[in-house]
Amino acid sequence: MSMKQKKPVAAKIKTAVKKPAPRAATPSENAAPKVVSAPRSVATPQTLRGMRDILPAEQKYWRFISRKIEELTASYGYERLDTPILEETALFVRTAGKQSDIVEKELFSFLDKGEDNVSLRPEGTAPLVRAYINHGMVNLPQPVKLYYVGPMFRYERPQHGRFREHHQFGVEVFGDANAVQDSEVILLAQLFYKEIGIKTTVHINSLGCATCRPNYANELVTYYRSKRAHLCEDCKRRLAKNPLRLLDCKEPGCQPVKETAPNIVDFLDEECKNHLMRVLEYLDDLQVPYVLAPHLVRGFDYYNRTVFEIMLAEESAEGGQSVALGGGGRYDTLVEQLGGRPTPACGFGIGIERVILQLKQQMIEPSDDRRPDVFLAQLGDAARRKAFMLFEELRAASIPATANFSKGSLKGQLEIANRLNAKYTVILGQKEVIDGTILIRDMESGMQEIVLYDKAVAEIKKKIGRT
Ligand code: HAM
Repeated sequence: MSMKQKKPVAAKIKTAVKKPAPRAATPSENAAPKVVSAPRSVATPQTLRGMRDILPAEQKYWRFISRKIEELTASYGYERLDTPILEETALFVRTAGKQSDIVEKELFSFLDKGEDNVSLRPEGTAPLVRAYINHGMVNLPQPVKLYYVGPMFRYERPQHGRFREHHQFGVEVFGDANAVQDSEVILLAQLFYKEIGIKTTVHINSLGCATCRPNYANELVTYYRSKRAHLCEDCKRRLAKNPLRLLDCKEPGCQPVKETAPNIVDFLDEECKNHLMRVLEYLDDLQVPYVLAPHLVRGFDYYNRTVFEIMLAEESAEGGQSVALGGGGRYDTLVEQLGGRPTPACGFGIGIERVILQLKQQMIEPSDDRRPDVFLAQLGDAARRKAFMLFEELRAASIPATANFSKGSLKGQLEIANRLNAKYTVILGQKEVIDGTILIRDMESGMQEIVLYDKAVAEIKKKIGRT
């Protein structure tokens, strides 16, 4: 029998990776080589202002929040709807309002290569309204309860808790005008914070409707005109164009004027007043902490009746002005305004970065969902190959396991197991390979046990209570 000499593995790999065919040199390449000195320092691109990377160390907060979102939306019967990040600019101009800061100052807009005016979405409500109309969801049994999670973009001045790219978890409910729906949406937002450990208070107001709001707007203009000398330039402009936005001014000089401004609740018609009363009654029943905020308006023009913002509870806010962790309200005319059939709607948006800042500030540790039951350590070549197979068996048996096959030293691997807070470390060395065994080490007690390799999965299952 002719025995062919076996090629070593490394040689096989070498012959498999073919060199590219030589390319003809260009005339300049044939000239005498130039001496090019390496640049002293190469500028590395940075993230854009107000935008940030989410590093591995922060991911546990995002996973924690995602799990809570999935759990709450499932139990309240919300379905996920994802929309594109890029939309026609007109969608936001028509919905947020031309004079809103979002449209005037904060839209990330540009002409694309086809000369279409497009914008990165600054919020989730308008895209969901568009999707609701586009997909004929008005024909589904109402209410249609939707949620979304994703990045939003606003060209704002970056500061604490304010970014140019931020993420929102939002819900939108279409087809229910009842006050109980406003309360359910507010309850859901409040439960979200409560169940991740953040105490909040809901600030709530009503913006009335197209019938009663103009009376209030007239009164507001009369009042603000009498204080014109104290107003900032923006407010002077708002006075003529969009009076309700006067109450949204953040300029310190305008705050005393706002404090004594007339309250919209005194101008609500009977139906709007009743709606507000019913929302508050439901919140009382559900024991949702709230305060009436008669000057609360929101950054978008589409709201009517209920508007609310979720603020940190006073006992958790360490002095200083607390920022809104979330906000929302009712927008009963927006679907029609975008060409759909008249459909009442309401919802909220929660800023995830602000929530994470609070979790960190209040030292709330997310539960460790990535804690492996088993860390698989190996020593020597034969053991590594066997450990590789065992690792796959554990994964197939749905046992949360992790390993670092590139580490050679047992000490280094045990350090990783400790850092990952693994419950058990399974050790496979030369001796174990020969004996057909594995060593299971309880990382808490330090106790070690020898188990037959063939029984490894069953034994580990028993130990972690997965029989
Ligand atoms: P919004 O109040 O503009 O409402 O945003 C919702 C939440 O997103 C805010 O309360 C805040 O926590 C967070 N947020 C907003 N801008 C930033 C930023 N620049 N940096 C970090 N976080 C930010 C809306 O967007 C509405 N679409 C909510 C809604 C849904 N209304 C009805 N349905």
